[in-house]
Amino acid sequence: MKFSIKAGSEEKIKSDCLVAVIWSKGTLSDEAGLIDRAAKKALSKLLRSGDFTGKLGETQLIHDPIGSAAKRLLLVGGGDRRKMNAKNAAKLLASSLNKVFTLNASSVHFALASLELNDREPAWMAARLAQQAERTSYSYDTTKSKKSKTPTIKAISLSASAGSRRKQLELGLKQGQAIGKAINRARQLGNLPGNICTPTYLASKAKDLGNRNRSLTVKVLSEKQMARLGMGSLLSVSAGSAEEAKLIVIQHKGARADSKPHVLVGKGVTFDTGGISLKPGATMDEMKFDMCGAASVIAVMSCCAELKLPINVVGIIGAVENMPGSKATKPGDIVTSMAGKTIEVLNTDAEGRLVLCDALTYAARFKPCSVIDIATLTGAAVATFGSHATALLSNNDKLAKSLRQCGEQSLDPAWQLPLWEEYQSMLDSNFADIANIGGPRAGTITAACFLSRFTEKYRWAHLDIAGSAWRSGALKGATGRPVGLLMEYLLGQKA
Ligand code: BES
Ligand code: MN
Ligand code: ZN
Repeated sequence: MKFSIKAGSEEKIKSDCLVAVIWSKGTLSDEAGLIDRAAKKALSKLLRSGDFTGKLGETQLIHDPIGSAAKRLLLVGGGDRRKMNAKNAAKLLASSLNKVFTLNASSVHFALASLELNDREPAWMAARLAQQAERTSYSYDTTKSKKSKTPTIKAISLSASAGSRRKQLELGLKQGQAIGKAINRARQLGNLPGNICTPTYLASKAKDLGNRNRSLTVKVLSEKQMARLGMGSLLSVSAGSAEEAKLIVIQHKGARADSKPHVLVGKGVTFDTGGISLKPGATMDEMKFDMCGAASVIAVMSCCAELKLPINVVGIIGAVENMPGSKATKPGDIVTSMAGKTIEVLNTDAEGRLVLCDALTYAARFKPCSVIDIATLTGAAVATFGSHATALLSNNDKLAKSLRQCGEQSLDPAWQLPLWEEYQSMLDSNFADIANIGGPRAGTITAACFLSRFTEKYRWAHLDIAGSAWRSGALKGATGRPVGLLMEYLLGQKA
């Protein structure tokens, strides 16, 4: 898809579909007003009929609108004009794009110049349009014999709003498109089944990225190499699986070599059966999504390269499959982590933290500016936040605040939980330095407490995306979160 900014009178812009806003109670936006005048008041007549009221997200398609150069006119409800904020604008864009992508149209123009958001700059709207258009164009068909129709839309334009700088709008389109594509990349990896998306598959996808992007270098460590580094904790998770574990390291070099990198660490459990502490059967299929943290890291790294971010970023992925088997780790087994701490594995289903702790220890060698891990870590995060917020915990309040703001700005929200000292003793073990579970209460916090024992050397934040990374039910599928939040964070960093 190509995105561009177009100036000029809305009704004269040639396209297969022109999109214009009607505010609540049938009030014409400035652009709809121009179109109405050209159409000899046909829109006013439609609105008087009461069939279209301008409720937020409502759509009405009109063919061959009189007086306009466009083949179709899509009216979209904007709701109360004074309440037009980022969230409502995203809803307006979602419903118009959903409609537009069902049409046999190749060019679409969004006549939204007069649309002002009370909480964002105009460039945000441009970025969001491009991001959402890319996201709307995605559908999963890799493992279906009937392929989905390729979207017909090739070009999307947006009118330049008064007082906005064209350069900034264009930058918004470029960044939004790259982020939308990255979100789709994360969704695609998440949606692939566990028998295709194995640790080896993730490693090969990372290597492909390295081959295609000059700023990226990719290194994959084998089980043997990890054993030499003493990663006994990570390797204890893959012990029961025939699939070899991989530690994937992707470096984006966008700044001087001495500029401290931002490190992202992704949980890449390509399937989580629970191991010997086997999970119940119902909805176990969804544990193919247990690598969505890793998917978000791969997607973000590719986006950093595409946008040539002028900073250094390192992505580290612990890729493993968690299976029961004769060689699998058993409850009560004690393993030694790369940091030297011994861990009593009381529950083999608390495997994510066992993978992450060694990857987090490895992260220290990059002398990071910040480390953020992303993981589908606890069912308790789903119980706490449902699917709306990602759980955020950190050893640095400034970093936590910044991530929370980035979540809000990108509409990919995260909310902080406390990481208080008082919770730490729940991980006491009679037989090792630390136990891998803290009991049934405060599960998201005790999981983060476990990780915090391995992150004392740097500024660190943990994003538990167990609730936000995928949807269940009829719309089952990966969401691509928190790619939006992470890109917002990285775009704001300086070398
Ligand atoms: N991958 C799961 C977390 C999960 C469960 C995410 C359900 C989304 C939905 C993780 O590996 C896990 O099994 N966690 C356990 C930890 C417990 C044994 C302390 C959990 O949350 O039940
Ligand atoms: Mn588990
Ligand atoms: Zn898991």
